[in-house]
Amino acid sequence: MNDTFLKACRGEKVDYTPVWLMRQAGRYLKEYQEVRAKVDFLTLCKTPELATKVTLQPVDILGVDAAILFSDILIPVEAMGMHLEFSDKKGPILGEPVRNKSGVDKLVIPDTEDSMPFVLETIRMLRRELEDKVPLIGFSGAPYTLATYIIEGGSSKNFVNTKKMMYQNPGLFQGLMEKITATVIDYLSAQIRAGAQAVQIFDSWGGNLSPFDYESAVFPHVKKAIKALKKFDVPVIFFVNDCAGLLDLVKKAGADVVGIDWRVDIYKAVKALGKKVTVQGNLDPCVLFGTQEHIEERVQDILNKAETARGHIFNLGHGILPETPTENAIAMVEAVHRLSRV
Ligand code: CP3
Repeated sequence: MNDTFLKACRGEKVDYTPVWLMRQAGRYLKEYQEVRAKVDFLTLCKTPELATKVTLQPVDILGVDAAILFSDILIPVEAMGMHLEFSDKKGPILGEPVRNKSGVDKLVIPDTEDSMPFVLETIRMLRRELEDKVPLIGFSGAPYTLATYIIEGGSSKNFVNTKKMMYQNPGLFQGLMEKITATVIDYLSAQIRAGAQAVQIFDSWGGNLSPFDYESAVFPHVKKAIKALKKFDVPVIFFVNDCAGLLDLVKKAGADVVGIDWRVDIYKAVKALGKKVTVQGNLDPCVLFGTQEHIEERVQDILNKAETARGHIFNLGHGILPETPTENAIAMVEAVHRLSRV
């Protein structure tokens, strides 16, 4: 088994820098498009055979060092009781947005085994299929990122409704965060029991908060979730998008690996994060639209700057974009392996 990724998570010595890509299964792959042409996105997430198939595509096509479960961060939000659909133009739509006490009261803390068995079945199927290849990463949205979807009812630019609740009704906001955190803990624990060998918590919109609000209203919940997962001997990766202003806090979350976006210089991030965590990142996904010479130059730059870290897992600074030329993603993975080999 290629366990380079798991070794790097724990800060152990590796022969080369492992690499995977956030959102590595997706529309930039024609093989994914072929599967998606026959079923809608939610059906794909809920059909273990199909979810397994698209999870394995980037492992075979790109040669990455880890697989990530094919699903979506909003699956548990649906299980909490909200109506979920994906529109091709607007992305996810959730109804009714939760903005008051009766809305929060109506949300349930779902039992993962009962309400999301397809996720666990996909994980078990993937472990059987992957046996001798690479480790499998499970994932969840972070409590705050999930709260933004629950309160806004979909994607948002300024998160005004979310922040309104935070400032106008802090008790209600905290009650909601508690319910989401309990959901995240049950969801990730079940994924680990089913066979996930590492888990990533995506705080995609955390960087939109001031450090003050992140620390007081959000951070205790993430910390609690990470602490609850410590009883499993499985690395936890914590990714906050737009994290430059939050590095001192993120360092204290208790995660084994900290994922960083591309807006921060990885050398500075490594210095801020210290020697107790492995760093993951952080190529701008748009660099993959440039030439392969330029991609190689940028890969080398990141490898050099991450050299002093306890461990480094190469990744993009956020999800790969749908228009990305597959051959450039392949070239990036190949460059990471070749240039980092000692
Ligand atoms: O990484 C992987 O390959 C695993 C699959 C995965 C998906 N979503 C599949 C997906 C993962 C890890 C996610 C996480 C996710 N989903 C996040 C956090 C990561 C991030 O990018 O910040 C967020 C914020 C979502 C919510 C979401 N899902 C949005 C806003 C959208 C619409 C925009 C878009 O990218 O299409 C989705 C849909 C979605 N999730 C698709 C895929 C492959 C596209 C659906 C399609 O096939 O039409």
